[in-house]
Amino acid sequence: MKTLLRIDSSFNLKDSFSRKAADHYEAVWKEHHPESKVVYRDLGKFEIPHLTRFVFSAFNTTEGDDNGLHISNVLIDELELADTVLISSPVYNYSTPSTLKAYIDHVVRINKTFGYDPNNYTRRGLLSGKNAAVIVSRGGMSINGESPDGVERYLQGILNFIGIVDVATFSINGTAHEGSANRFKSAREQITQCFNRN
Ligand SMILES: Cc1cc2nc3c(=O)[nH]c(=O)nc-3n(C[C@H](O)[C@H](O)[C@H](O)COP(=O)(O)O)c2cc1C
Repeated sequence: MKTLLRIDSSFNLKDSFSRKAADHYEAVWKEHHPESKVVYRDLGKFEIPHLTRFVFSAFNTTEGDDNGLHISNVLIDELELADTVLISSPVYNYSTPSTLKAYIDHVVRINKTFGYDPNNYTRRGLLSGKNAAVIVSRGGMSINGESPDGVERYLQGILNFIGIVDVATFSINGTAHEGSANRFKSAREQITQCFNRN
């Protein structure tokens, strides 16, 4: 049985472009994986606290759950059990929502999701055998076909860093501009096509 871990982060719980595109991804994923399970982490409802010095210090110890690591442990368990990770993110002020950044700060963790070799200063992602999809919606248009803020590249980079190298990205640009319905339709089609290619 395959598991999809879906992470949404728009604070718009209704009429959100990124959530609606993630709904479509989830529906198509389920068609391709009839015997499957979806784990849903909605950062618009369950807010992860900011990473503190106390919790970050605990990342480097071998102690258990009782030292502030509980949230990080739960989130990393979800990632480890997932076959596919789906992240949907709006662009807020040239970045991801701070709720998604707080999530990332709790799952990028030494000896859990990445390893570090002090002999040659190399880091290695520890989550293997998974794929991911990143859906980004923004009010503004792309510039010469490129992301104007780099949010897709950032999220792809984080996933690569923890070992998830197979990452598909989908952008819904210009949600605040005329023609947004057509651009949304085109993103939906790209999502469907991505499954048909595999
Ligand atoms: C607080 C805030 C900041 C925003 N900052 C940006 C921005 O920097 N660049 C941009 O293109 N759009 C920006 N937008 C517009 C959103 O990216 C756009 O409305 C997008 O569709 C939101 O995603 P959603 O539809 O999934 O909620 C911002 C919106 C809000 C509410």
